[in-house]
Amino acid sequence: MGCFGCSGISGEESEHPRNKKSKRNDNSSNKSKPQRHASPDSSKETVKKEEAPKSEQLLLCVKNLALNAEVSLDGKATKAHSFTFDQVIAATGNFRLDYFLGEGGFGKVYKGFLEETNQVVAVKQLDQDSLQGTREFVAEVSTLSTAEHPNLVKLIGFCAEDKQRLLVYEYIPLGSLENHLHDLEPNQKPLDWNTRMAIAAGAARGLEYLHVKMKPPVIYRDLKCSNILLGEGYHSKLSDFGLARVGPSGDKTHVSTRVMGTYGYCAPDYAMTGQLTFKSDIYSFGVVLLELITGRKAFDHSRERGEQNLVSWARPRFKDRRNFSDMADPQLQGQYPMKGLYQAFAVAAMCVQEQPSLRPAISDLVNALNYLASQKYDPDNHVESSRRSKASSLLNYNHSNRAVADRDFKSF
Ligand SMILES: Nc1ncnc2c1ncn2[C@@H]1O[C@H](COP(=O)(O)OP(=O)(O)OP(=O)(O)O)[C@@H](O)[C@H]1O
Ligand SMILES: [Mg+2]
Repeated sequence: MGCFGCSGISGEESEHPRNKKSKRNDNSSNKSKPQRHASPDSSKETVKKEEAPKSEQLLLCVKNLALNAEVSLDGKATKAHSFTFDQVIAATGNFRLDYFLGEGGFGKVYKGFLEETNQVVAVKQLDQDSLQGTREFVAEVSTLSTAEHPNLVKLIGFCAEDKQRLLVYEYIPLGSLENHLHDLEPNQKPLDWNTRMAIAAGAARGLEYLHVKMKPPVIYRDLKCSNILLGEGYHSKLSDFGLARVGPSGDKTHVSTRVMGTYGYCAPDYAMTGQLTFKSDIYSFGVVLLELITGRKAFDHSRERGEQNLVSWARPRFKDRRNFSDMADPQLQGQYPMKGLYQAFAVAAMCVQEQPSLRPAISDLVNALNYLASQKYDPDNHVESSRRSKASSLLNYNHSNRAVADRDFKSF
């Protein structure tokens, strides 16, 4: 899936997912000597552009990136390394076909190997001649080179030579959450409940880092299943910071931008007004959580009208918790804790509320998800074993008001 510029209207009728799916070649082999191979063919997808900044301005930014490669603006050393194009060619075997990992809205991704550091990497080659691509590139390097958190993908370096714009990341072996949740291969095992909750908790911690721990705080703007990569043990890492924006400062509650995002994940308030807030990310998080619980896609063109947009489908069903078992992913085959299912739906429902001020803050969300992830479900014993961690205030709050569904779903 990729990004789009919204029409300014939210809701199913206005949403038209891009017809190209991102491609992933799971047959990617490990390091080997570079060989010459042609790039894979790909159908180009239209990406609506944010108001184009002057190209000279961007070129200046790119040059500054190269100058600041090892030292950030505040003088601290950063991890981002400036690579030559020859080094990237050597790492990817000149973009070997069998190193191709997949393709998104801004370019193709290849596996690579850095001989000097003995590191397996993923290299994203942004489409050439695209001003939008250059903007993404500058945003990505600026955001990631100062960020460091176990739930964010590491940017190892970049290459900005002539028209080439490449990003070099740590290689995340299990690919994206999208690959593990939707359109599974016949031999692929569906994710179990515990793993799903752990993935959601990890993603929430990554988002919390961006929202409250980064200085200045950052709005991610592109939270979705294809941007949650999975490391060993299904450890989640947020990737793709090309759309990230520094959050509002001082008394301001929002930053105004041209609306960008991905169909099905974009908060209605942001889509309508272009006013981007931290709560826009919370809405997208709610959609991801709904995908994890229901196994449905954020937007599924193949479903009948009324069922295509996940939030539109889920909202009326939130009103009655007796619907919850039917809403759970059939691939879970009933292997989930009933209480955990209710709580997870309650949290998701709060995140996707129409009114941004009613959506929870990220820190409350982290507490709630950490708690849910700590409630291990044992399918053999059908018992939930808890690490006796204190339930988060978000969940306590709802329990003290009896059924979450009774209270919080009134607004739907
Ligand atoms: N660091 C990485 N390690 C391993 N695989 C990666 C890495 N980064 C990206 N990929 C894979 O490359 C593919 C394309 O990623 P990319 O981010 O370009 O597209 P996308 O997320 O599908 O769409 P979008 O452009 O909207 O973000 C995905 O399948 C992803 O799993
Ligand atoms: Mg991506």
